[in-house]
Amino acid sequence: GTAPLVDKFGRTITYLRISVTDRCDLRCTYCMAEDMTFLPRQEVLSFEEIDRLASRFVARGVDKLRLTGGEPLVRRDIAGLVERLGRHLKTGKLRELTLTTNGNQLEKHAEALARAGVRRINVSLDTLNPDQFRKITRLGDIDRVLAGLEAARRAGLSVKINTVALRGQNEDELIDMMCWAHERAFDITYIETMPMGEIDGQRSDSYLPISVVRSRMEEQFTLSPLAMTTGGPARYVRVTETGGRVGFITPLTHNFCEGCNRVRLTAKGMLYMCLGQEDSLDLRAVLRSGASDADLDRALDEAMERKPKGHDFVIERGRSHPSVPRHMSVTGG
Ligand code: GTP
Ligand code: 5AD
Ligand code: SF4
Repeated sequence: GTAPLVDKFGRTITYLRISVTDRCDLRCTYCMAEDMTFLPRQEVLSFEEIDRLASRFVARGVDKLRLTGGEPLVRRDIAGLVERLGRHLKTGKLRELTLTTNGNQLEKHAEALARAGVRRINVSLDTLNPDQFRKITRLGDIDRVLAGLEAARRAGLSVKINTVALRGQNEDELIDMMCWAHERAFDITYIETMPMGEIDGQRSDSYLPISVVRSRMEEQFTLSPLAMTTGGPARYVRVTETGGRVGFITPLTHNFCEGCNRVRLTAKGMLYMCLGQEDSLDLRAVLRSGASDADLDRALDEAMERKPKGHDFVIERGRSHPSVPRHMSVTGG
């Protein structure tokens, strides 16, 4: 069928995030442990399988697809997948096809992504300081990301920078990063660290509420709230002095779940109805049992029934386990 995907709280799902791999070429300390085990290849959905599922979602009214990881650009021939999914842009059913990337390999992919129909990308970057960048990502070289951003600009892609606010790690740089971003006509979004997956060290040590960041900004800048949204969790403001936009993603200090419009497909085909919750539905099993479109539709309807009201995130000093045991890299955020 073509009936829209509406959950039992009346929220319509129009946005699918697709993790194309759980692997990553970096090891950000707040995202992963130093030592991670990744899925064996045969567990991961093929491009054909991703395409089949994505097309079903599009038929049911999803008009935005975002490829994530792990790091999406480590998946072989990622531009081929984008091109393939891009045919839905041509029919007008899909409004946006985009990616969230760490930028580490963006330099070599930017042009092909733009040609395949990507218009804007979100690039994760938590610091502009090369040493701090190496500390946070464990493996990264900031010059590669900066070169990637430059290539994105040359390719005509709009860029949004995603910055996780980390106490004692990048907190004194956050405002400089905004100025840096706005000089380049990039949007920037600050994100609260979410308690997902075991990491080395205490989450509560690096947690910095975005309300604190915002008050510090307001001491120096004039922020006017924007009505505009990407349908996502970010609340945007315009900064009078720079003319640029800043987004705030505040799962901990200000819940935004009532407006949620998204679900997430993992690299092995599990559908998570919420980022901050463990329930999932095995679409790969449905697919690999030779499902018809009607069978897939039934699975999607069940997913809508199971979408929870909101996430279960809590960050407290002394709490020994994360609220959600899986790592962010399983669903790509
Ligand atoms: P836009 O299309 O630019 O709005 O992107 P986005 O914010 O939807 O996606 P992006 O991949 O850039 O994610 C930015 C941050 O928001 C990441 O840390 C995600 O984990 C987080 N995020 C995205 N969607 C959700 C959500 O539904 N709930 C929560 N708690 N966090 C989310
Ligand atoms: N909390 C918040 N954001 C996170 N990201 C990765 N792990 C976490 C976490 N625990 C961010 C990345 C990237 C996006 C996809 O998710 O920095 O910007
Ligand atoms: Fe990789 Fe992104 Fe996780 Fe960093 S935050 S380890 S870049 S998936």
